[in-house]
Amino acid sequence: LIVPENTMKWKNIRPTKTFWNWSDMDNMVDFAEKNGMVIRGHTFVWHQQNAPYVDSLKTKDEAVAMLTEQITMVMERYKGRVFEYDVANEVLNEDGTLRDTVWLRTIGPEYIDIAFKAARAADPKARLVLNDYSNEYAGTAKGDAFYELCKDMKNRGIPIDGAGLQLHLVAEHTFNREGLLAQIRRFAELGMFVTFTEIDVRIAMPSSPEKEAQQTEIFKGLMEIAATEPNTGHFVVWGYTDAKSWIPGTFPGYGSAHLFDKASQPKPVFEDLKKILADSPKRKK
Ligand code: G3I
Repeated sequence: LIVPENTMKWKNIRPTKTFWNWSDMDNMVDFAEKNGMVIRGHTFVWHQQNAPYVDSLKTKDEAVAMLTEQITMVMERYKGRVFEYDVANEVLNEDGTLRDTVWLRTIGPEYIDIAFKAARAADPKARLVLNDYSNEYAGTAKGDAFYELCKDMKNRGIPIDGAGLQLHLVAEHTFNREGLLAQIRRFAELGMFVTFTEIDVRIAMPSSPEKEAQQTEIFKGLMEIAATEPNTGHFVVWGYTDAKSWIPGTFPGYGSAHLFDKASQPKPVFEDLKKILADSPKRKK
C-alpha cells in the first residue's frame, strides 16, 4: 500500500488555479498498479500545504466551488484506482472544537459535509475517511469529539465510511490499549471501519534500551489490534526509515520513530510485526 505523503496535497497537485500537476501522482498510481499495490489518497481538506489562492478565498460560494472542483477533478481522474481517501484531515482542535481554517471561515461547519458529498459523487466506490491525530483513545476530549462528529455525519446520511487514526505516538507515553479498542469498537457499531493511517512512535533522544522496548510494545500492540479487530486492518506507517523522517524537524529532540533505522535496516520489532501478521486470524481465512 502506498500513500502520497505530499504529492496529492493541494499546493503540489494544483499549484495555481489553472495548472494541474498530474505527473507525480500519475507515476505513483502507475507504479502501485505495476507492483500489485493499492493507493490511499491524502488529502483534500486541510489547513496546511494549500496553494496561496486557497488560503486567500473570501466568499462562501467561491470556497464551495473551489473545494468541490478539487475533489471532483482528482477523484474522477483516479476513479477506481485509488481505493480510499482522507477526504478531510485534522479538522479538530485538541479540545474537540472545529479548527479555525479557511474552510470553516468561508463556508462554515458544513464544509465537511460538502467535501464528503462531492467525494462520493466523484467516485462512488472509493472509501471515504475523516483523518486526524490524537483521536485514537475513547475517553479523551479529542477522541470523543472525533467519534461524535463521525456519528453525527453518519446519522445525517453524510457519506463517510471510515475513521482515520494517524497514531503519531510517543514511546514514553502510556499506550492505552483499552481506550484504542473502545474507540475502534464504537466505530464498528456505527458501521464504520478504522484505518491506522500514519503510524510512527517517536523517542525522546538519546534513546535507551528501555525506551526502545516501550516503542516495540506500542508497535506490536497496534499490529495485534490491526490483525484481529474485524473493522480495521490497514497498518500504514508515515515514513519507513529514520534516515528520512519528518519527526526531528517537527519535534526537535525526538527521533528514531520508524521501523527502519538510520542505515535503513529493519529494527528488531520489524520481525515481531511480521510474525503477528503471519499469525493473524484474518490472514488464515
Ligand atoms: O519540497 C520542498 C523542497 O523543495 C524545499 O527545498 C524544502 C525546504 O524546506 O521543503 C520541501 O517541502 C517540504 C515538504 O514536506 C517535502 O519534504 C516542506 O517544507 C515541509 O513542510 C513538508 O512537510 C510535510 C508536512 O506534512 C507538512 O505539514 C511532511 O513532509 C509530511 O510528512 C507531513 O505529513 C503530515 C500529514 O500530511 C498529516 N498528518 C501529519 C503529518 C506530519 O506532519
